[in-house]
Amino acid sequence: MIASQPIGIFDSGIGGLTIAHALVKELAKENIIYFGDTAHLPYGDKSTASIQAYSIKIAQLLLEQECKLILMACHSASSAAYELVKEYVANQAMVVNVIDPVVSLLKKKYQGKQIGLIGTRQTINSNIFKKKIEELNASITLFPHITNLLASAIEEFGNHAVIDQLLKIYLSHPNLQQIDAIVLACTHYPIIKERISYYYNHSTEVIDPSSIVAETVKRALEKNNLINIDGVGNKRFYVSDYTDSFAKNATLFFDDEIKLEHYPLWD
Ligand code: DGL
Repeated sequence: MIASQPIGIFDSGIGGLTIAHALVKELAKENIIYFGDTAHLPYGDKSTASIQAYSIKIAQLLLEQECKLILMACHSASSAAYELVKEYVANQAMVVNVIDPVVSLLKKKYQGKQIGLIGTRQTINSNIFKKKIEELNASITLFPHITNLLASAIEEFGNHAVIDQLLKIYLSHPNLQQIDAIVLACTHYPIIKERISYYYNHSTEVIDPSSIVAETVKRALEKNNLINIDGVGNKRFYVSDYTDSFAKNATLFFDDEIKLEHYPLWD
């Protein structure tokens, strides 16, 4: 592998652009290929088998594009398909998910703490965080709660006050009262992290995976001497189904004007 090869990032849609944006801030010279599977959005409600099939096909596309590293930016895909994608990709590229970096941080900095966890039905029902925390022998007490409608509400309304109503319903769940910190285990939630912090009167720490994941990718590239020092940072943003609303929302998640292109992977 060589440093000028692109980093491939994939998500169920455009929410993963929050992770892509954090990565671009950390590694401005990297060439990036983003693939949002908008044709199958949302992954949060899909079966594990479907998400696995979609993820393998997308990984195949990113390998064809000669990506040196594949970042599974979607929490639902990371929880359903990471092991399978890793096995499929083997030594053709590095594979990073959005869950392991957060679990490592929890072990390092939050031992003995009570941690809330919010995400899609797929991510929460997979119990992946609990399994990984146990594998690392970390003494973290996890309080998971499914907040399934949040992602689509954020796509519909953006970072708007109407989201506070939904947060009130979800975050008032008994599971999420006595927590020291809350993990935002969904691509969309960084957009509303201030609202979540405000709900807790800023007394509960809000853990946003995007910069933690970007840091992990940087370290993985450094370790393998694959940081693109001389690059100009070419970026392509593909979606499997193109609509004007995806194009409009892309800016919300990336925090910058970007151009989405249709890539008919499923046609
Ligand atoms: N990208 C998904 C995640 O992080 C949220 C949207 C969806 O359900 O597809 O879990």
